[in-house]
Amino acid sequence: MKSEIKKFIKERSKDINRMLRNKEFFNLSRKWLAKSIKYKYNYNYTWLGRPIIKYPDDIVVMQEILHKVRPDIVIETGIAHGGSIIFTASILKMLGKKKFKVIGIDIDIRKHNLEEIKKSIVYKYLDLIEGSSTDTKIFNLVKRKIGKNKKILVILDSDHSYNHVIKELNLYSSLVSKNSYMILPDTYIDFMPKNTFKKWKVGNNTYTALKEFLSKNKNFKIDIEVNKKSLISEAINGYIKKIV
Ligand SMILES: C[S@@+](CC[C@H](N)C(=O)[O-])C[C@H]1O[C@@H](n2cnc3c(N)ncnc32)[C@H](O)[C@@H]1O
Repeated sequence: MKSEIKKFIKERSKDINRMLRNKEFFNLSRKWLAKSIKYKYNYNYTWLGRPIIKYPDDIVVMQEILHKVRPDIVIETGIAHGGSIIFTASILKMLGKKKFKVIGIDIDIRKHNLEEIKKSIVYKYLDLIEGSSTDTKIFNLVKRKIGKNKKILVILDSDHSYNHVIKELNLYSSLVSKNSYMILPDTYIDFMPKNTFKKWKVGNNTYTALKEFLSKNKNFKIDIEVNKKSLISEAINGYIKKIV
């Protein structure tokens, strides 16, 4: 690595650590995050014309991970309007990958969303499956679609309850390749004040499932470098790297 960029990264790392030592800034960020939920702030953005339900910080971090891993297959549970799968496909296309697929799974692919997703310039890279992500038939179908592809990355963004995510983790973690990632948006539910969300609860959510999964699966670990710099993130401790 050239010395200029080494110097830049070293300085940035120092700044991030300095930022994290500032408790006032950290608490302010968490407060801001909690307030933003009231206004569904993460619904405010689109990617190539389709709503993407993520905070901008997470969209940039996901781009960094896709650039680093260059997966052949990305599986995302939870399609909604399609912005996130379109985002992933567009980044992989920009990276010049010749062959790749983004497999999206949703229990309810709404007709109006599907019609718009079909118009996307990256539609040919998408493979949409309707059904529950934890249904064995759906999981086996995903496995068949992966075939001999080697680099697999998984994003779990469907039902955020403990029961569902723990099943997803136990199934889909087996597909993730070494040095690739599992991304779990919505771990932040557990870090927000009680009753912040109508549907999700502190103690019964994505993060509760993730903590249990990580305590039993030492081949995955939280990528601290990725996680710590991003304070406006819904994926708090939710960028998980497969290390073995
Ligand atoms: C938060 S949204 C997904 C947002 C999308 N990933 C994005 O970033 O734009 C959650 C989606 O999960 C879907 N969903 C809920 N339960 C599911 C399940 N059991 N299996 C698959 N999808 C499910 C919902 O229909 C909804 O579209």
